[in-house]
Amino acid sequence: MKFFRRFKIIGTGSYLPEKVLTNFDLEKMVDTSDEWIRTRTGVEKRHIVRDDEATSDMVIEAAKEALKNAGLAASALGAIIVGTISPDTLFPSTGCWVQKGLNIPGIPAFDVSAACSGFLYALEAGSSVLSSIAKPILIAGADALSKITDWEDRGTCILMGDGAGVVIIAPTDEDRGFLSSILGADGSLGELLVQPAGGTRMPASHETVDKKLHTIQMKGNEVFKHAVRAMGDAAVAAIEQAGIDPEEIDLFIPHQANTRIIEATCRRARVPLDKTHITIGWHGNMSAGTIPVAFHDAISKGLVKRDDLVLFAAFGGGFTWGASVLRF
Ligand code: UT7
Repeated sequence: MKFFRRFKIIGTGSYLPEKVLTNFDLEKMVDTSDEWIRTRTGVEKRHIVRDDEATSDMVIEAAKEALKNAGLAASALGAIIVGTISPDTLFPSTGCWVQKGLNIPGIPAFDVSAACSGFLYALEAGSSVLSSIAKPILIAGADALSKITDWEDRGTCILMGDGAGVVIIAPTDEDRGFLSSILGADGSLGELLVQPAGGTRMPASHETVDKKLHTIQMKGNEVFKHAVRAMGDAAVAAIEQAGIDPEEIDLFIPHQANTRIIEATCRRARVPLDKTHITIGWHGNMSAGTIPVAFHDAISKGLVKRDDLVLFAAFGGGFTWGASVLRF
């Protein structure tokens, strides 16, 4: 087996907010039905942060669980990287707020903005600086999309949820880590999935707030077509570059945006559905949060064991995409 990059995952954790919003709750908010949402997306319920809860609060809780599972004190960490597009503040980064919450000043902390591919981008960034940092690195994927969702837009609000997942990676000489890792982006299609206001292109004003331009604007149908193609292609390329056959994958952890996108990716990559961990039903699309939350869930349930080969694949705003094959 030829390794693209060696690292060892020594702990994982996740956090979902306490409040649950079901499809039946949504039926009272917009013109939709539980049946439509379940059959068109796979989502049954989602978790929603409290008004006073932000993305870093979720990451801190997931981090505490991951540190406990790794048997590590927070002071042993060498860096914090958070994949998110719903930061607590545009600056400081969510990574800095997490560092403050864990009370470990001094180490580098930053965010990676790649929407639903954010966790895979963050893992790639973290694993590539691991040898120079030479200490465990905390990688998070987290989003509180409920705070940037238009709850009157049935085309988006039925999909979204909030949550955070964390993995801690450490340097290793053992044969584990990435067999392959593919990342890609196409900025020319950015307008199809965008939060238009709040940045320097369209700073916050009364007008932008009135027009709800700080919320997610998505051409769902267009995004769907691109997601199916790009996630499938990335998964195929990651399997090829890993030098393995699809049958050798022990578990596939896809980004969870829509069950139909996941099923199409499985068909394209020739990975059976019964080796695919689908968790969207109980948390919806948490953007960068979905893969690490599903990964932690799979590990906790014994679906992923040491030495297993795990395939990740994601697609999101940007557009961005990624896929990797990891030996756990
Ligand atoms: O995380 C990465 C980025 N995001 C994604 O990957 C999301 C990708 N997109 C999707 O998952 C899907 O496009 C949606 C779930 C957002 C929408 O599903 P769709 O099958 O593409 O629906 P559509 O927009 O083509 O609409 C089909 C019909 C329309 O009615 P008519 O024109 O056929 O009468 C819509 O008005 O469904 C209607 N519709 C709804 N009906 C009930 C759209 N949204 C809803 C709804 N409830 N929430």
